[in-house]
Amino acid sequence: MSNVIVHPDAASAAAAVAASVAQVIRDARRQDRKAVLGLATGLTPLPFYRELVRLHREQGLSFADVITFNLDEYEGLAGSHPQSYRRYMDEHLFSQVDIPASATHVPDGTAADPEQACRDIEDAIRRAGGVDLQILGIGRTGHIGFNEPPSLRESRTRRVVLDETTRRDNSVFFGNIESVPRAALTMGIATILDARRIELLAFGRGKAEIVRRARQEKPGPDCPATWLQDHGACTFHLDPESASGSAI
Ligand code: GLP
Repeated sequence: MSNVIVHPDAASAAAAVAASVAQVIRDARRQDRKAVLGLATGLTPLPFYRELVRLHREQGLSFADVITFNLDEYEGLAGSHPQSYRRYMDEHLFSQVDIPASATHVPDGTAADPEQACRDIEDAIRRAGGVDLQILGIGRTGHIGFNEPPSLRESRTRRVVLDETTRRDNSVFFGNIESVPRAALTMGIATILDARRIELLAFGRGKAEIVRRARQEKPGPDCPATWLQDHGACTFHLDPESASGSAI
């Protein structure tokens, strides 16, 4: 069963998770190795990235020895596309801190051979020594990354077709649903569960029901976030609204 912390608000949750990241970075430096972070996109992690940038500017938190792997990317979107996750990461984190561009990995939505691109991501994570800390959001379909239902516990980085609910939810970024890509590349469930620690962020009443399902339903492919119950070091960081669906 995953742990859960109900914070007074999203900003406090974001600050707590950013503090965990800072600790992971400092611990790795003490051990003379690079910290490996798994990163997420969407509206939810925005206050978390703002806090990381603040820690960099005001407290000297350095990302010079950090390697990052993002969960997912829309198929067909080049990194220069305003709605690509590469662009999101450049804008909200990478351009604001001292991380070398070569240490940042976001799946290439325009890869000529997507299967090979997915295998390359798995290899790169392995070569980096595995993910120390994976940040997650959760979609209303129960997706983590873009692992839509049904997603198997054994799934690895791959191409997935997006659920219509997800396309509708993400149409706020694109202006209309027709412009939202129909497919994506995503780390798999097994890839995510390989991380040594997982911190999931979910805020607002709109996430209450899926958070309840993720924590209370028996793990299975129909609500992929339920697989997190299999992880020994996974914490859900909630605000009072997202926590309101379950007796926590
Ligand atoms: C997106 C991303 C996920 C994210 C989720 C929730 O589509 N692929 O990684 O966690 O859906 O997004 P939001 O935080 O905007 O609600």
